[in-house]
Amino acid sequence: MANQTIDILVATTSGNTEYLADQVSEQLQNEGFITRVHYEPDYSDLVEAIDQDSIWLGCIASHGAGDYADSMLAFADDLHARKPRLEPLSYAVIAVGDSCYDTFCLAGRDFDENLAHAGAKRLMDRLEIDMSRDDPEKKASTWLTTFMDRL
Ligand SMILES: Cc1cc2nc3c(=O)[nH]c(=O)nc-3n(C[C@H](O)[C@H](O)[C@H](O)COP(=O)(O)O)c2cc1C
Repeated sequence: MANQTIDILVATTSGNTEYLADQVSEQLQNEGFITRVHYEPDYSDLVEAIDQDSIWLGCIASHGAGDYADSMLAFADDLHARKPRLEPLSYAVIAVGDSCYDTFCLAGRDFDENLAHAGAKRLMDRLEIDMSRDDPEKKASTWLTTFMDRL
């Protein structure tokens, strides 16, 4: 439903996912949603603000050997260490990676599984973007159309 606020959490090291998140944000705004893009998501701010209206959209690039990209390393550490309950939260994940790595999209998968285990409601199956094969904006845009229908 338009007018809802969506927090977009960005895990990026070299900027591709930041660019993608900006495109995603623009598409959501064009359809009447309010977006807040978190380029370096703050665990306490985001988790403490969760209520029944909260929607997170994770745009999560993998780096290292399936690690989270730099901008969300601290957030991911907190999520793993503190194991919060996240029942009222709804969420979806766009995982960004490259299929030349065995650890393809591992950080996005981890984020998705962690939120589900924490009791958050998955709105939609995770999108996985393979940077060596896919057109990221096009793939995300198609996925986003269905995502918006679920809100
Ligand atoms: C050093 C390095 C390590 C990477 N490790 C992974 C990985 O483990 N799994 C994966 O799916 N992609 C991996 N990638 C691919 C990145 O996810 C991909 O390049 C992505 O576009 C980076 O997004 P960013 O520019 O937002 O940081 C790696 C890329 C680099 C440069």
